[in-house]
Amino acid sequence: MYFKDIELKNFRNYKDLKIEFDKNLNIFLGHNAQGKTNLLESIYVTGMGRSFRTNSDKEMILFNEEFAKVKANIIEENREDEVEIIYQNDGKIIKLDGIKLQRTVDLLETVYIVVFSPEDLKIVKEGPDNRRRFLDRELCQIKPIYYSDLGNFKKVLKERNTLLRENNNDKNLYSVFNESLAEYAIRIVIERKKFIERLNEISQKLHDNITSGAEKINLSYETKINTKEEYLDLLNDNFEKDLYKGYTSFGPHKDDIKIVINDTDIRTYGSQGQQRTAALSMKLAELGLIKQETGKDAVLLLDDVLSELDQNRQRYLIESMKSVQVFITATEIDEKLRQLLPQGKSFLVDKGSIKNI
Ligand SMILES: Nc1ncnc2c1ncn2[C@@H]1O[C@H](COP(=O)(O)OP(=O)(O)O)[C@@H](O)[C@H]1O
Ligand SMILES: [Mg+2]
Repeated sequence: MYFKDIELKNFRNYKDLKIEFDKNLNIFLGHNAQGKTNLLESIYVTGMGRSFRTNSDKEMILFNEEFAKVKANIIEENREDEVEIIYQNDGKIIKLDGIKLQRTVDLLETVYIVVFSPEDLKIVKEGPDNRRRFLDRELCQIKPIYYSDLGNFKKVLKERNTLLRENNNDKNLYSVFNESLAEYAIRIVIERKKFIERLNEISQKLHDNITSGAEKINLSYETKINTKEEYLDLLNDNFEKDLYKGYTSFGPHKDDIKIVINDTDIRTYGSQGQQRTAALSMKLAELGLIKQETGKDAVLLLDDVLSELDQNRQRYLIESMKSVQVFITATEIDEKLRQLLPQGKSFLVDKGSIKNI
């Protein structure tokens, strides 16, 4: 799958833009704060309906404007689809081939995107919330039902936490909330476990390659709940504690991915190099997993990440982008690196305008 072109109106610092992409590689060069990440973000939203860096859609509307519009043509085998998204202050409109979609989730199976930014290099070492975000983001793409379950779980969790914060101790009320919380929770846990198992298989092969067989990586899902009943028991057993704290102590919103290399938990005990290589393996495994699950090649967005990697890892990353369309942003790309990159188009990004170079 690849993007043929994109058109932006009032999106971030782009007043009006239309560009045609190369089907393999597109490089966006420019100083800081010129709009490089904004452009990748616009590509990302056509796949996910939302940004990878903000939860507020409104933030993407050009200052002092009423709406932002992104329109892209995406080619998959012999088929071309047009995705159009309009963000307004009071919500968004998503159209696929000119037809308005009822729900964002209906968009998710059209375009597959993997984004890799310096933030992602920290998924191994930083807090569990980063790893959960990674999990959720990927699962939402490949499993639209997960997207709904997660949304529902979060909604019920929020309501339960509100009751706890208000110090409401009406047990009957909680039993209703617990029941539906546990229902969604267990679906989420099952999907996350399956996902991690498959991701693990692919990561192991990649990691073995990157480290020339020196390191064996193992990913597993860390949770306290394996069945709905277990979760209901946990909720009941911890009720007083939750009431005291004003929030729900256990559940998928607290789970984690355990990342082990040669028997060492590298989340805490890994060297920076190990943590980065593991992050790279996990990220690249996503591409493989999407292909496995959907039969489609995802589009890869590399935001300022190449310069963060040493030559060995750069080479590896470049090696794995051969069959997919890639968008790279950087302030500069040295000659050595350029030699390694496949043929493609280069653009200069300058204060919200883009030209071919
Ligand atoms: N909604 C918006 N309207 C106008 N400009 C915006 C908006 N959001 C961000 N910007 C501008 O975009 C620029 C940052 O763009 P970004 O793509 O992150 O830069 P970089 O090229 O470093 O990746 C900043 O100058 C910021 O002021
Ligand atoms: Mg940037």
